[in-house]
Amino acid sequence: MRIGGYANATPSKPRLFYGEEKYMTADGEEDVAGLRLAGAAVAHARDTALAAIEPGISTGELDAIARDALASHGAVSAPMLAYEFPGHTCISVNDAAAHGIPSMHIVLSDGDMINIDVSAELDGYWADTGASAAVGQPSELMSRLLEATKLAQADAMAVAKAGEPIRLMGRAVEKRARACGFTVLENLHGHGVGRFIHEGPDIPNTENRRDRTRLVEGMVLAVEPFLSVSATHAIEDVDGWTLRTNDGSMVAQFEHTMIVTQGEPLVLTLPLAGT
Ligand code: CO
Ligand code: CO
Repeated sequence: MRIGGYANATPSKPRLFYGEEKYMTADGEEDVAGLRLAGAAVAHARDTALAAIEPGISTGELDAIARDALASHGAVSAPMLAYEFPGHTCISVNDAAAHGIPSMHIVLSDGDMINIDVSAELDGYWADTGASAAVGQPSELMSRLLEATKLAQADAMAVAKAGEPIRLMGRAVEKRARACGFTVLENLHGHGVGRFIHEGPDIPNTENRRDRTRLVEGMVLAVEPFLSVSATHAIEDVDGWTLRTNDGSMVAQFEHTMIVTQGEPLVLTLPLAGT
């Protein structure tokens, strides 16, 4: 294993979407195995919570379901561990894009859009995943936004090959969003992950043509585009955590943790058989 270093000092809260300079690379069997276990834990927690979504359930109850799933793997909530976030997972509803605080008072209704983001540490390895879903019956617009965001996420991973410029990932997300008639939240980025929850490199969801950074084999990335009906930015809520769209419109996110290879990425947070 080579660890280029990472934000391992005392992490302080608002470093969430900053690209840290350093990152780990998964260099051997041991790293890949450790990352796979962390990936399986967060994927299981994500899918267990997603399966429990229904009108009338609270985001606090969904958080408890995910908490129990993480515990069954021996995994520890990353937002709690790293940032003292007041929840085991981040659960964001409708115009909330990220870092929504789970609450027994936020009760879901038919037609809501929800995002469950699960990240955790397991034996020194960190993984991060997220998915959006409709509560009850989705509107046609919600279905299209969910589909476009899922495709944008896959598009970004498909061009994430060793030696390629990172900006191709942002280009892929922008292209998909535009083709589907949606916007990209420009200030919410993907990031390196692996030895901490937020490492370098920064993975913008729009193309910065001046960015010459290239992907390196073994880099561990959390790829997470945020697409919206019409918003271009996320703004922090007065609660100090929740990030909401700048115009109140609906947003969706899908996130996977992957390892960069010469070819197809090794995705660590795919749905598990039987969940
Ligand atoms: Co996440
Ligand atoms: Co992330």
